[in-house]
Amino acid sequence: KKLLLINGPNLNLLGTREPDKYGTTTLAEIETDLRAFVESTGGTLTTYQSNHEGDLVDRIQQAAKEGIEAVIINPGAYTHTSIAIRDAFLSVQIPFIEVHLSNIFKREEFRHHSYLSDIAEGCIIGLGVHGYFSAAAYFLTAK
Ligand code: DQA
Repeated sequence: KKLLLINGPNLNLLGTREPDKYGTTTLAEIETDLRAFVESTGGTLTTYQSNHEGDLVDRIQQAAKEGIEAVIINPGAYTHTSIAIRDAFLSVQIPFIEVHLSNIFKREEFRHHSYLSDIAEGCIIGLGVHGYFSAAAYFLTAK
C-alpha cells in the first residue's frame, strides 16, 4: 500500500508549539515512527509538510500521478478555510483520513467546521499522535 502523510501549516513546529494542546512529539519523530510502522506491513510512506495552501494542493494533485492509494492529512488551520484543498481531493479521488491532534470540538467555534470532513473516508480527532497511527492501520488492514 502506498500511503502519503501530509501536514499543513505550523505543524513543522510540533514539539514546541503549544505542547499542552499538541504534545511534545516532533514532526520528524512522527514521520520516522509512522514510516517504520507502515514499512513493517510492507507498505510505503511518503511524507510532506507545507505552510502554503497552494503547495498542499500541488502535492495532492501530484499524489494521483504517483499512484498514492491513500492520504493521511492534518490540514492544520486550512481545515477551517480551504475550499481549494477540498477541491483537490475531489479532483484526485484518493481516499483520505483527516487527523487532528486536538479535539477541535472542545475549542473555539471557528474550529468546529471542516471543509474536508464530509468528503473524508473518516476523521480522527483529539487523540494526539495516535490519530496518525490509527489512520495508517486502517488503510493498511481494513482497506
Ligand atoms: C489542528 C487543529 C487546527 O484547528 C489548528 O489550526 C492546527 C492543528 C490539530 O491537529 O489539532 O493547526 O489541525
